[in-house]
Amino acid sequence: MGHNQNTPIIDAVTKYVNDWTVRFHMPGHKGAPVMEGLIGRLIGNRAFAADVTNVPGMDDLHQAQSVIKEAQELAAQTFGADRTYFLVNGSSCGLQALIMAVCGPGDKLLVPRNMHRSILSGIILTGAVPIFYRPEYDSHFAIPLSTSPDTIEYYTSRHPDIKAVVLVNPTYHGIVSDISAISCITRQLNIPLLVDEAHGPHLRFHEELPRPSLDEGADAAVQGTHKMLSALTQASMLHLKGSKVDPDRVESALRLLQSTSTSYLLLSSLDATRSQMSSNGREILQGSLELAFYLRKEIMALEGFSLLEAEREGIFGLDPTKITISLRDLKISGFWSEQWLREKHSIQVEMSDMFNLLLIVTHGNFKVHAVRFLESLRDMKKHREGREDPGPFNNWEEKYFMPEVPKQAITPREAFWTPWSAVTLLEARGRICSETIACYPPGIPIICPGEVITGGIVDYLLLMKNMGAHFQGCQDPLLRTVRVIR
Ligand SMILES: Cc1ncc(COP(=O)(O)O)c(C=O)c1O
Repeated sequence: MGHNQNTPIIDAVTKYVNDWTVRFHMPGHKGAPVMEGLIGRLIGNRAFAADVTNVPGMDDLHQAQSVIKEAQELAAQTFGADRTYFLVNGSSCGLQALIMAVCGPGDKLLVPRNMHRSILSGIILTGAVPIFYRPEYDSHFAIPLSTSPDTIEYYTSRHPDIKAVVLVNPTYHGIVSDISAISCITRQLNIPLLVDEAHGPHLRFHEELPRPSLDEGADAAVQGTHKMLSALTQASMLHLKGSKVDPDRVESALRLLQSTSTSYLLLSSLDATRSQMSSNGREILQGSLELAFYLRKEIMALEGFSLLEAEREGIFGLDPTKITISLRDLKISGFWSEQWLREKHSIQVEMSDMFNLLLIVTHGNFKVHAVRFLESLRDMKKHREGREDPGPFNNWEEKYFMPEVPKQAITPREAFWTPWSAVTLLEARGRICSETIACYPPGIPIICPGEVITGGIVDYLLLMKNMGAHFQGCQDPLLRTVRVIR
């Protein structure tokens, strides 16, 4: 990985700003401090000056020929791809574009149930038929683990007409699968392996981290450069390797999905992040890893808290900078503790679920943050002493697992276009769902459009509702009603 500190997009924007060109073009603020008191003081007037558009010299994301092309080529080198596309609509649009590039209406796509909802959007956009598989599941943490190569082997042999395989790697909790073995299967079948690597843009930069999917045989990966590296929110990258995914189809799909008014603040942040990782990636990750290991050691020493670790059964590999803390033995819910940490200690974790908190440690965190977090955990434990939450904690049973993937009556796309009505959860039993219902985070669908709502799903949704889960993807986030096919 050669170092290259060039930043072609930033250089072009800087030149335009410094030339003091008189702007009779969009955006309307013209780079002037016209909102000083409203937002200028918050984000700085320079942000407006640099918020340029596709004027000559600035290239065009949809037909990259100069500075964006150059920056994307540098990114491909840095991230180990043959081609890289910058994304300004998040990893979501990259995943949708990949699905549109490999599937048409009626084509089968093998997808994990712990998919992000943007994958389902891609399925609705194309009219593809999802074949869902379940990764391994952990009963203590109640989270999905790695996907075993046997699972992929099983589904691809049952459905020999599958057009592509999608993996989430790493998962939200930092768990990776054996991509090398899975890519052997897809290579033999001559179908592409598409990886949702939204949580793994940093993996390539330190040998103690699990290896990135492109280095292990994946054909395409979408990375959330804004999630784990330094880019601005929404700025992501789509990488291709080899010839299984047609770049022309990816480009056509991206033209459909991305804005024509591309934000140069987002593009510049991708350019800068690429340069930063190219010159300093290992050092940056070394710092994050040291801090993560410090936190892990100290949390382990606190009685009652337990950590998700790489040695657990069902885990092929774990990114240690993602710290999943189980509060189950303390009989504290993750939902409650997230809120308590925010209100009492001004600490915001990445997410909580029924039993866990998830921290993401990056180069933006420092020792002082870790020390404050550890103090807050001690305080939380003291605060809760003698006040046990009756909840489900003494009564952990199968019913708290996400129910089986239900039968698909019609495709997600057909469900999307069919008239619906809103009914109560109890009335929904046996009906075909017209929406996605997921607890967010982590956004894993409990039911997808086109699937039959079973009694088990109704019971599980009621349970999660009583636990205080936040629902997403559905019309009524409080689940007073759900949408069913009329
Ligand atoms: C696994 C996974 N994939 C994709 C996405 C979508 O990324 P973005 O928010 O950048 O569109 C997310 C967002 O949280 C995610 O967790």
